[in-house]
Amino acid sequence: MKVVVFNGSPKGDRSITLKYVLYLQNKFPDIIFKIFHIVSVENKNENEIRKDILENLLFEIEKSDIVLWAFPVYIFHVPSQLLHFIEIVRKQKISDVFSGKYAAIISTSIHISGTLAINYIHAVCDDWNMKFTGTFNCETNDLLKSVYREKLIFFFNSILNTIEKKYELAFEFAPVKKHEFIYQKGHKVISIDTLQKKILIITDSTDKESNQHFMTEYFSDQFTVRPEIINLNEIYFKGGCLGCLKCGYDNHCVYQSADEFTDFYKAKVLMADIIIVSGDIKFRYLSHVWKLFFDRSYFFNHTQPLAGKQVGMILTGEVSHIVGLKEMLSNYYLIQDANIVGLVTDESKNSETISRLLGSLADRIIYAAVHNVLNTLPSEVIAMKYILEDALKNRFGFINYSAYRYYNKNHKFQKTTQMYGKLVINKILILLIRFQTIRNFIHPYFVSSILKKFNKLLENS
Ligand SMILES: Cc1cc2nc3c(=O)[nH]c(=O)nc-3n(C[C@H](O)[C@H](O)[C@H](O)COP(=O)(O)O)c2cc1C
Repeated sequence: MKVVVFNGSPKGDRSITLKYVLYLQNKFPDIIFKIFHIVSVENKNENEIRKDILENLLFEIEKSDIVLWAFPVYIFHVPSQLLHFIEIVRKQKISDVFSGKYAAIISTSIHISGTLAINYIHAVCDDWNMKFTGTFNCETNDLLKSVYREKLIFFFNSILNTIEKKYELAFEFAPVKKHEFIYQKGHKVISIDTLQKKILIITDSTDKESNQHFMTEYFSDQFTVRPEIINLNEIYFKGGCLGCLKCGYDNHCVYQSADEFTDFYKAKVLMADIIIVSGDIKFRYLSHVWKLFFDRSYFFNHTQPLAGKQVGMILTGEVSHIVGLKEMLSNYYLIQDANIVGLVTDESKNSETISRLLGSLADRIIYAAVHNVLNTLPSEVIAMKYILEDALKNRFGFINYSAYRYYNKNHKFQKTTQMYGKLVINKILILLIRFQTIRNFIHPYFVSSILKKFNKLLENS
């Protein structure tokens, strides 16, 4: 029996999610686990996998019985590197090799919106004609608890049973149809006074003949002062978020002086009153460039840098056919206390309707900005906020010190119950972390001490 593992964590072999796989490897010594780290397979600047790597990859998948996706949740979805890898597989038209293979997921997170990421990979498996056997979804440190180790063994045994008995498994996600419609841009209007509100349109459009391009243009045409349009493809990203959490203390990204992203984010995104997301559905999500944008913005940790901003979305493609997509994109803003004003898509396939909707969105978003509109939150976002608050207060406040400080200063610690033992340790570490020298000492120690716990477990298993 052979398992091909795709480790989607940007941390590579330092991934906690991977420890779950290594635990299984220890417990099932007769099974061969062939592990691919997506960070080394993904070709950062190209849309192709390097030829030698690709040949090996295809060979191993061909010979495997099951493909196991192991990944952390990053900004309500999979990390940008994994999204890019899936984009490349599709572009290189090599997904046939996955057809008929069994598939499963092991995913870790702090349980903020993890289902959307899991559904995405599950849907990709369905698209590639794989037989999806199930998901092991857990909190980062669950493997350290015996009850979860038992659950993990049970999970894997049931996969083995499925493979042995050659069970047939139903698809859960309908294929996304090709979206065929050409939007005819309406006439220039220029009637809406921006009332000194700064509008920033962020787009990733690469095609000047696309609906995305024309819809974005038409929206811009509505205003007396033309909004600034920034194309994410023109910003130099050295790479995706590494998950190193070094930004947790002072919001300083390790890539800060190595690429253009953090300067762009501070100078443009933070300065805008109104943000427009312009995207096109690529493969059940926006492009991996948009995901780079979301993941890399994590350097602000949970300090809500977009609070109070008004957000609109202009999306093209079969948006409503992708379960959870709208929620996933909205949640990024809502959890920061930004306000979602509206979404316009080209799904009506009627140019006049689309132009009218774009005009209304333009008007509505200025109204919302002038009146500082802040709508109530959906229940799931409130639940996410509880989880986050609890994590900052009781467990991860010191590694996310900037967010802890922000929550404290703005009296945001109100709802969650306290676990006194952990709270005290957290408080002591928070006091110590204020000193740079102690911080420099603690960060590597903290990261390696977590890994040590897992390594010890693996040694004894
Ligand atoms: C950039 C970044 C974004 C994250 N976004 C989420 C999220 O949206 N939801 C969540 O529950 N956890 C989120 N997490 C927490 C990770 O999913 C969690 O720590 C995971 O167990 C890390 O696994 P790994 O060590 O295999 O990378 C995020 C962590 C990072 C570094």
